[in-house]
Amino acid sequence: MVKSALPDGTPLALYNVDGRIYATDDKCTHGEVSLSEEGTLIGKTVECSWHFGAFDVTTGKATAMPCERDLKTYPVTIIDGIVHVDA
Ligand code: FES
Repeated sequence: MVKSALPDGTPLALYNVDGRIYATDDKCTHGEVSLSEEGTLIGKTVECSWHFGAFDVTTGKATAMPCERDLKTYPVTIIDGIVHVDA
């Protein structure tokens, strides 16, 4: 996982799932945790290291308690090898 940010400073997490790039908000919806720095990506699931909540990074859906609110996702395009995230 890689940490990035939108032009307005909103932190993002970028994930590589089977060669496809996905972007979500970086902060866990359950607490003040950077998923790109403290999460673990297993397949298409990022697990938060604090309380082991989890999200599907391809949809943003919360998939494990205590996370109940979904992560915001962002469309990603790759142009000439550069990742572009649409806010
Ligand atoms: S802060 Fe992420 S699961 Fe609690």
